[in-house]
Amino acid sequence: MKATDFDAWAQQQLVDVERALDAWVPADVPAGLGEAMRYGVLDGGKRLRPLLVLAACQAVNGLGAAAMRAAVAVELIHAYSLVHDDMPCMDNDVLRRGKPTVHVKFGQAQAMLAGDAMQALAFEVLTPMANERDAARQPPQQAEVPAALQARLCALLARAAGHAGMAGGQAIDLASIGQALDEAALRDMHRRKTGALLQASVQMGAACGDCGAVAWQALAGYGATIGLAFQVVDDILDVTQASETLGKTAGRDQHHNKPTYVSLLGLAAARDHAEALRQQAHAALARSGLGDAASVLAVLADKVVERES
Ligand code: IPE
Ligand code: IPE
Ligand code: MG
Ligand code: MG
Ligand code: MG
Repeated sequence: MKATDFDAWAQQQLVDVERALDAWVPADVPAGLGEAMRYGVLDGGKRLRPLLVLAACQAVNGLGAAAMRAAVAVELIHAYSLVHDDMPCMDNDVLRRGKPTVHVKFGQAQAMLAGDAMQALAFEVLTPMANERDAARQPPQQAEVPAALQARLCALLARAAGHAGMAGGQAIDLASIGQALDEAALRDMHRRKTGALLQASVQMGAACGDCGAVAWQALAGYGATIGLAFQVVDDILDVTQASETLGKTAGRDQHHNKPTYVSLLGLAAARDHAEALRQQAHAALARSGLGDAASVLAVLADKVVERES
């Protein structure tokens, strides 16, 4: 796929994703909670997870309205995870997406509640049945999502967000401060805390269409691989990039004495590892049998590894 074709595709999807997020995250919530939610979700972020959902849906010629809901839902879970990740009880960060973190701006209790509410909203978005708010809010997404698909999307997202995925990985992350994990343990932590949501993004997109067993397995493998690669690169960027580029404070992993791919392998070997994962992701797509339909996913794998922020 030509770079210009990908850029045009991504630009259009990002416009749609921003519009959907803006429509879904409410402002009219008492006591400033809506403001904190909108601050944490809107205006910033690469929106990689939504792009993965939409690209995977496109690869299997799936139901676009369902995929857009899944894209919004996974970004809400991700944004909530960042709000909580930045709190003083976790990574204690003051900068996120180029702005003061939610707890710095609104206080810790409001940050906790904003994250909680984002998580609940994610599942509300996935269950459009009998939702009065929908008709008023969501002109682009009124197409019915079959009930079985709603349940499937909820299950995929819940599993990736909860104890077996992101929340579990975050618990391991905090328990591992100051420890030297071996590669298997580090891989397991990264797969859970970051990889699970990226893999679920791909799986939710694929679930929106008719995806045979071979393609499903291959896409799940692709998702797991880029999910791990994403956190390996996050570890690298924490060391190599400036805070202004990242939109978050650089050097925090070493400051907190966190085990990372850089602390375990060194910078050069961590980069080699990310490159090897990129090749594995491409190999998984080749196994999918989806051919050119998977070309956007192939570019997204490259972006995950080549990104600079
Ligand atoms: C940062 O994720 C947190 C990790 C899981 C490593 P992103 O780098 O995708 O953050 P945004 O959404 O672009 O801000
Ligand atoms: C965060 O990992 C993963 C999440 C589940 C939010 P990090 O703690 O490394 O993410 P950053 O570097 O703060 O974005
Ligand atoms: Mg963290
Ligand atoms: Mg952090
Ligand atoms: Mg990090």
